[in-house]
Amino acid sequence: MYFSGIQPTGKMHLGNYLGAVRNWVKLQQPGNQNIYCIVDLHALTDKLTIDHEIKFNLNTKSDTLSLAATLIASGINYKQSIFFVQSHVPEHAELQWILSCIAPQNWLNKMTQYKDKKKEYSTLGLYTYPLLMAADIILYQAQYVPVGLDQKQHIELTRDYVQRLNSLFKLNIIEPQYLESTCPKIMSLRDGNKKMSKSDTNDGNRINIDDSKEEIFEKIKRSKTDSIPQIYFDQEQRPEISNLLRIYQAFSNMSMEQIINKYMTKTTVDFKRDLSELIANELNTIAEKKKQILENQSELEQILKQGSLKAREIAQQNLKLIKTNVGLLI
Ligand code: TYM
Repeated sequence: MYFSGIQPTGKMHLGNYLGAVRNWVKLQQPGNQNIYCIVDLHALTDKLTIDHEIKFNLNTKSDTLSLAATLIASGINYKQSIFFVQSHVPEHAELQWILSCIAPQNWLNKMTQYKDKKKEYSTLGLYTYPLLMAADIILYQAQYVPVGLDQKQHIELTRDYVQRLNSLFKLNIIEPQYLESTCPKIMSLRDGNKKMSKSDTNDGNRINIDDSKEEIFEKIKRSKTDSIPQIYFDQEQRPEISNLLRIYQAFSNMSMEQIINKYMTKTTVDFKRDLSELIANELNTIAEKKKQILENQSELEQILKQGSLKAREIAQQNLKLIKTNVGLLI
């Protein structure tokens, strides 16, 4: 069983698409059970923030619908996969509480994403974010979790919780495994050492799924490269061009060798133009489909409701087992 999630924060970008979503689509094969979740409760850690004053950013509902439409347009098949919104299945938050009662605090202190994101006034939600993520995975007894590299530490922590649950309460929950895509870490367009991110304040650093053809051409044209005129892959010395090459490979399905041969006698300008064309072709098709899906919002809401019913059936069964073994009166 494959389980994964994505937050409805900001716009979905090329990193999310190549690092996770395109892999989710590929994994939808006969014989596989796939569960994909829009993790709106996780997104609250970003949307409800405490700075010097409390800032409420309450467009979670429209962001959730927009992301749902993007995912369906990208190829998530809601008839084949279970596709739902996290807050529609209250068992996620319930299991998070149980996990929080067996989770040593120091396990959370070492999480790098928390260290990176925490501010002077951070919320408890941001701190316990990994517990909710572990609950998401454990609730369905997922075997594989297809995510980008930035989420690997969260999966490892989830395995620690599973081991603890199993040994404390004589359970036999499956230990989930991190499943990497061919592009586990897409980097910023202007800094080959920084990952492409929704929270980056400079929109020029990323390609959004909704970007127009013109925006894609402009962003790739302005993307950072070095002064070496030849095009070749060298992650250490040439992180920026290597990132563009990896993106080219993902969209063209060519081998790295074939790409290098093709551009041996061509310029970076030629390469960037062809890359832009490849990206725009795929993303613009998705954007077009997304627009159509959003035209019928009530149907979209219905799809998500149906998905949550299927998810809930599995979640309730697994939670009941855990609650029984923990010793609660069922
Ligand atoms: P989120 O919403 O930040 O990102 C969604 C997915 O996109 C991947 N990703 C990237 N991959 C490659 N290169 C990048 N630059 C890049 N940026 C993002 C992420 O690794 C992720 O797979 N915590 C998760 C959501 C979550 C979840 C879960 C995932 C909540 N519960 C349970 C799996 C299972 C997150 O923040 O995703």
